[in-house]
Amino acid sequence: MADITRDVLIVGAGAAGTTAANELRKAGLSVVVLEARDRVGGRLWTDVIDGAMLEIGGQWVSPDQDALIETIDELGLETFSRYREGDSVYVGPDGALHRFTGEMFPVSAETEKVIAEITERLDAMVAEIDPDRPYAHPKAAEWDSVTWDAWLREQSDDDEAVRNLAFATGSAMLTKPTHAFSLLQSLLMAASAGSYSNLVDADFILDKRVVGGLQQVPQLLAERLGDDVLLNQPVRTLEWGEHGVTATTDALTVRARYAILAHAPVLYDRISFVPSLPRRQHQMHQHLSMGFVIKVHAVYDRPFWREQGLSGTAFSPYELVHEAYDNTNHADERGTLVGFVSDQNADDVFELSAEERKERILESLSHYYGPEAKNPVVYYESDWGTEEWTRGAYAASFDMGGLHRYGKDLRASVGPIHFACSDLAGAGYQHVDGAIRMGRLAAAQILDADRSAVADELREPALDGA
Ligand code: FDA
Repeated sequence: MADITRDVLIVGAGAAGTTAANELRKAGLSVVVLEARDRVGGRLWTDVIDGAMLEIGGQWVSPDQDALIETIDELGLETFSRYREGDSVYVGPDGALHRFTGEMFPVSAETEKVIAEITERLDAMVAEIDPDRPYAHPKAAEWDSVTWDAWLREQSDDDEAVRNLAFATGSAMLTKPTHAFSLLQSLLMAASAGSYSNLVDADFILDKRVVGGLQQVPQLLAERLGDDVLLNQPVRTLEWGEHGVTATTDALTVRARYAILAHAPVLYDRISFVPSLPRRQHQMHQHLSMGFVIKVHAVYDRPFWREQGLSGTAFSPYELVHEAYDNTNHADERGTLVGFVSDQNADDVFELSAEERKERILESLSHYYGPEAKNPVVYYESDWGTEEWTRGAYAASFDMGGLHRYGKDLRASVGPIHFACSDLAGAGYQHVDGAIRMGRLAAAQILDADRSAVADELREPALDGA
């Protein structure tokens, strides 16, 4: 067993962990990052599959994501816009395909009116929510006791309007069935992006990508840390107390004054804490669970949909693939479509054989883009549910009632242990932006604690002499 001693131990080399480590280093503290996987990046993973570069995990950057944009600029990375020229497509309840331009998709005038009214109501509610303190809203308990689905159904009995409003935070974001999370959790999701309208605006939320892939963000941050990032080192135990922490992996013992757990909260229980974490953390962590979505990549010899005047933007709450986009790489002659199969639909297709699943998914894509969509040259399903060190996608959220009950303690440190992850964020919640914000916050908390400890030490002799 090799022994390492540092000021701060960081568990996880995703965007949150690599950000925190760099911030602490800049402030003069020594760090080590232990990563369970054989690669840096966590839920950011850019890889070449059958000759095609694919963003297996996170990829899009929206204009409100200041922390991520700053980091991208500082690392000298370039971005490019998602292709969006031409018509978008929507499949209605009768299975008919409709082309449209602009923000509003083609539904009856009555349904359009209902969607506009409820969107306005939601934007007003979201404006009252502080994404960092959703539990502090006077109606937090009430809004956390009603499911997102039930609340929408109370607003209108127009099924098409309700399904379209529901899926924006359901299948498309929290990736859980809309009866499985609360109105408050849904409002937090929207507040984290500035408004409900922002969240449903694909041109806003799916604005840009990084040339060469978003995984470069944690990779370049990790490069700056050099030998202080150690791969294949799942942390198994964490002893903690006034002295700081001692972590063990299968090969290492690391002693540090502070630790940051920079990974999804559903993985805290993979570590044996000695002594145990407090009651509050034990309880809170059981009320957080990962959503589940399959990200499907289909690469074609050319972006054939553009020839039909289509932007590639497609969605329908009635389709297996509930949303899909042109995901062609920067300066690539080939065309790539990315589609998403979420929550219950994802469970259902994993009951099928790989062949049947592929057939069903491509069939659904063909409803948007025509029969050519059935014959990609490269086909790949990102399945984060099987990834031991993530266990779902995109991120974790509270079950019914959990957010107002436990939200205030989500980021509270426990002795020398601090927590950082996109899943704990307010602004940028569930996104890379949130991971970076949480990495910065955990580093700032430690620097504050360290300054207080030094000040206490300096004060003590004076007090003794007084
Ligand atoms: P993350 O999970 O990335 O990193 C945690 C690290 O800790 C992992 O590397 C893990 O291996 C490690 N770890 C866990 N337990 C450990 C242990 N015991 N010991 C050592 N290491 C341990 N976001 C966005 O902004 N735009 C987007 O388009 C998308 N799209 C998207 C698609 C898909 C398919 C996914 C899965 C996710 C997205 N996201 C996204 C979300 C985004 O990718 C995510 O929020 C952040 O990358 C999370 O970064 P963190 O550093 O917080 O955790």
